[in-house]
Amino acid sequence: MAKIAVVSADDSHLQYVAGMIAQTANHVVQRTRATPALALAQPGLTLGTDLLILDAPDFGADDIAQLRRVTSEHPETLCMLLTESPSADVLMRAMRAGVQCVLPWPPDAQEFRDELQRCTSHALGTGRGDGQVLSFISCKGGSGTTFTAANFGYVLAARHHKRVLLVDLSQQYGDAAFLVTDQTPPAALSEVCKQIERLDAALLDACVTHVCPHFDVLPAAGDPVKAGAVKAAHLERILAVARQQYDVVIFDVGQDINPASIMVLDHSNLIYAVLQLNLSYLRAGRRMRDICHSLGYHAERLRLVINRHDKHAPIDLRTMEECFGIRASHVLPHDPGPVRDAANQGVPVLQLAESSAIARALSDMARQLYPEAAPRRDSLLRKLFGQASQVPAPARA
Ligand SMILES: Nc1ncnc2c1ncn2[C@@H]1O[C@H](COP(=O)(O)OP(=O)(O)OP(=O)(O)O)[C@@H](O)[C@H]1O
Ligand SMILES: [Mg+2]
Repeated sequence: MAKIAVVSADDSHLQYVAGMIAQTANHVVQRTRATPALALAQPGLTLGTDLLILDAPDFGADDIAQLRRVTSEHPETLCMLLTESPSADVLMRAMRAGVQCVLPWPPDAQEFRDELQRCTSHALGTGRGDGQVLSFISCKGGSGTTFTAANFGYVLAARHHKRVLLVDLSQQYGDAAFLVTDQTPPAALSEVCKQIERLDAALLDACVTHVCPHFDVLPAAGDPVKAGAVKAAHLERILAVARQQYDVVIFDVGQDINPASIMVLDHSNLIYAVLQLNLSYLRAGRRMRDICHSLGYHAERLRLVINRHDKHAPIDLRTMEECFGIRASHVLPHDPGPVRDAANQGVPVLQLAESSAIARALSDMARQLYPEAAPRRDSLLRKLFGQASQVPAPARA
């Protein structure tokens, strides 16, 4: 996941670009409504930003001067320029100012996707030592939050070779581990919290249950008294250690919104809200949306997951999307046979029934987070300067 800053003086352009990014992959998107020159003059804009997308209708002298300063101070931040009918002159100025890619406004969807993948590949590579944090929340019991979180984690590990840790935050009846393994866990979350002072990578590794080569689980406290001992400060320390060891840390937060789970949500790159299409979820979903907004979690970080979907659903998808205020990112089918068999055997559904509808839907969901590399297309800049900018292979001695 990359951090992308989108800058435009036009609100509708900001929305359009953020929408196209969301359709391509899950990135953290920060929108700034201002002209490029003004936005680039703000000190914090490029802090930790992997890609800067500037909508600059005329890309004037002020924009260029500010951009040149920013790209020389932050060479790790790449820049994409969206501008109306870019002439050869604009392309030349853009290249001199450090822009990697220029697309005409409005960008062609496929071209935009290709360039976005190219310009974020440096951030998506491994070696950052900074695993991303995904939280799964629900507004009503039984929506399938635990099933989705646990099986999604397995898909990321088995199919995408990510190192994944699943942490079960359920206060009382944590069951995430049982869905994917029949091993007896060496320790639960509450036990790790008790030893928080001496927690390091080795201790964490000794406490987690190794489900398969890339997938570990830290089960819930499993009793309300012990669960009470799990504090926000403990989770913050666990998260700091885990992010160094894993590519992805997944929290099954469930319905419990408390200081400890708020800390986790605050640190989450993405929050998956798991709902079903019926009236009680519609009401509870509206309430959950309000809570998310009041905690400062907005559309960019939220992913609406509709679980147990079938054609007999009493309300339609559009109604739920309107109520929740965002489009559904993932629709998972009601697939009781494979889900029940997998849960009964304590085996991930992908492992037990790879070709089932639910396993395929979970694989699609994982592919949205880690899309396979798309074939490269030539951007305007490369079309114009491609030959000149190609580095010749070193001559053989
Ligand atoms: N896509 C699906 N198709 C069929 N059954 C499902 C699906 N997803 C989950 N279930 C079933 O729904 C039930 C509830 O799932 P799960 O325990 O994951 O929900 P939850 O939101 O974590 O509930 P809780 O509030 O108790 O934590 C389980 O019996 C599970 O097997
Ligand atoms: Mg649960």
